Amino acid sequence: MLRRSTAWLEKRGIDDRPRLDVEILMAHVLGVQRLDLYLQFDRPLGDDELDGIRKLVVQRGDRRPIAYLVGEKEFFSLTFEVDERVLVPRPETELLVETALKRLAGAEAPVVLDVGTGSGCIPVALLHEREDLTAIATDISAGALEVAAANAARHEVEGRLELLEGDLLAPVRALPAWGSLAAVLSNPPYIVAGDPTVAPDVHEHEPHRALYVAGEDPLALARAIAVEAREALAPGRFLAMEVGHESGGPAKAMLEELGYEAVELVKDLAGIERVVVGVKAP
Ligand SMILES: C[S@@+](CC[C@H](N)C(=O)[O-])C[C@H]1O[C@@H](n2cnc3c(N)ncnc32)[C@H](O)[C@@H]1O
Repeated sequence: MLRRSTAWLEKRGIDDRPRLDVEILMAHVLGVQRLDLYLQFDRPLGDDELDGIRKLVVQRGDRRPIAYLVGEKEFFSLTFEVDERVLVPRPETELLVETALKRLAGAEAPVVLDVGTGSGCIPVALLHEREDLTAIATDISAGALEVAAANAARHEVEGRLELLEGDLLAPVRALPAWGSLAAVLSNPPYIVAGDPTVAPDVHEHEPHRALYVAGEDPLALARAIAVEAREALAPGRFLAMEVGHESGGPAKAMLEELGYEAVELVKDLAGIERVVVGVKAP
């Protein structure tokens, strides 16, 4: 089954790691670990199992991302539920969580805001790490907020996370925390439509509202967030955003131009400037 499905995916042009894909899908359907596929290599498969595996392999052949097929994705060592309503959390976004945790180290009972929360991976990871932290998260997509709520419940942090539907920071303006937030975080959409480097799996299956900015400026949403965050933050507190791999320099210049102080770029393990951080003037 593994060999035949792998060959079939290769024929369909899924040539990145087709065998790994099939292993993950088979293990998911059979309810075992990947290693068990090899330990139980002579186990006969029932009709239902074969059927289940075939259905998922066919969908993978249509380039549906593995995370949607198995319904979950690992992020910051936690398992998050995902479906087509949310972006699949990316490993590079863990740098934003790490950066926030480091900078919040001295803050007592901080309240943080995540703008465009999607699956809720950023606030849920933070809440899981810091028991004294509370978070607010916004998204323009009601469907995404349902997934974020499920993830908050799954990791038992729902009592410390307020989820609000609306545009960027707008739903937070009426809250008492406005003007006294310890951090504003965001991994906003930053891809310009037509970018040829976007993989077909991503373009065809992930929500376009989570991926693409309107117009030609990859920093358009980041700028709008940075403008509003100046009012939402407490003086001396920080804004941290993930940016596209070629946007580090322009993002730093943008935050400086908007009056942020001590603006820094944080590099990922590959040396790419992934996160921009700026401090609201004390
Ligand atoms: C790149 S995804 C990030 C999701 C999640 N934070 C992550 O890192 O995996 C951007 C998210 O912003 C949301 N979004 C897009 N435009 C928005 C807007 N104007 N206001 C609020 N959220 C928005 C999308 O629905 C999507 O969930």
